[in-house]
Amino acid sequence: MKLTDCHNIDDFRSLAKQRLPWPVFDYIDGAADDEVTKARNTAAFNSADLVPDVLAGVESIDTSCTILGRKSALPLILSPTALQRVFHWQGERAVARAAEKFGVWCGISSLATVSIEEIGALISTPKMFQLYVHKDKGLNRSMIERCQAAKFDAIALTVDTIVSGKRERCARSGFTSPPKFTPRNLLGYAMKPRWGLDYVFREKFALPNLDTHVKEGTGEAVSIAGYFNTMLDQSMDWKVAEQIRNDWGGKFALKGVMSAADARRAAEIGADAIMISNHGGRQLDGSRAPFDQLTEIVDAVGGKIEIICDGGVRRGTHALKALCAGATAASGGRLYLYALAAAGQAGVERALGILQDEIERGMKLMGVKSVDQLTSDRLRWR
Ligand code: FNR
Ligand code: LAC
Repeated sequence: MKLTDCHNIDDFRSLAKQRLPWPVFDYIDGAADDEVTKARNTAAFNSADLVPDVLAGVESIDTSCTILGRKSALPLILSPTALQRVFHWQGERAVARAAEKFGVWCGISSLATVSIEEIGALISTPKMFQLYVHKDKGLNRSMIERCQAAKFDAIALTVDTIVSGKRERCARSGFTSPPKFTPRNLLGYAMKPRWGLDYVFREKFALPNLDTHVKEGTGEAVSIAGYFNTMLDQSMDWKVAEQIRNDWGGKFALKGVMSAADARRAAEIGADAIMISNHGGRQLDGSRAPFDQLTEIVDAVGGKIEIICDGGVRRGTHALKALCAGATAASGGRLYLYALAAAGQAGVERALGILQDEIERGMKLMGVKSVDQLTSDRLRWR
């Protein structure tokens, strides 16, 4: 299989699986427990159908929208994801450049393998930093100050990882940050020489946004579960979230809100947006899918705060359905991660081109010329 054989996000998943050592593929593809929620995240989009209008004269349409005060060419955000140079040596640089080319937001994780400063200088399009609140308060302050200096456009505080989800695929493979080779997984790595040569001979692995303060994750290999359960501050509460919003002073989102009550509290503390998310099913398995939860949250806080539907998006029509249900935009991680792993920047650009094409085709077949015409009357729930 090669890049030109990829015509949808699932094709990229197949190519990524072909290219990556299985422990790395399983880290991306995997989720928590029985992975029920990960599956439902995508299946949920089949629980509602689009109702098209015709004869609307759609020769020219506008797919753009405004998210957190910045124009986005598509109603789609590339969600922050960790360890990207483990998936492909170009890592976050590839994703950021592709996001800039398509005029969409991208997110940089606290556990990114490229620094805040480098991404800040690399692209002019909107970028958000995803903050994990660590026990080390100096580290939290340092990341916020670095984002201010690097002129990031938003901070997304992740609130659904107070402890790690049960990542059974990673437990089996022994996947760690940085990757550690064990008798059990060595063959898996050895069977992917192109990945291995890139990983060994190109730029050394690092977590430059963290290694100023902690050795775990860079100098000391640790599982993601181990990192979450030992390094993150489990006492984090609404007061801490509000304080971070005030310290940052810029556009502020909470990532991982799922209840209407929490959506209301997010609006009360002055958050500009919530990302309705279950972390791609990687945290609480058995929790509701963001698209299933969207209507209840829109009823609670629609118009008071921007609402991003995060997770399970694999088609342009999934984003259209999310907007009809009241979301400001949709977002996702695997929708570009498989493509990154499969083919670096060229892969991510191809994936974004496919999603752009699906969004444009979907809007034209729906008979809408701009995303604000994607309203709830164009959706029927099964
Ligand atoms: C993630 N996600 C994530 N979220 C976050 O807040 N900080 C992070 O560092 C990461 N890292 C990460 C790595 C990998 C490999 C994946 C798949 C996901 C979650 C991510 O931002 C997003 O919420 C989910 O990916 C959405 O689900 P989909 O789009 O992957 O189905
Ligand atoms: C994950 C963390 C890094 O989901 O957010 O793997």
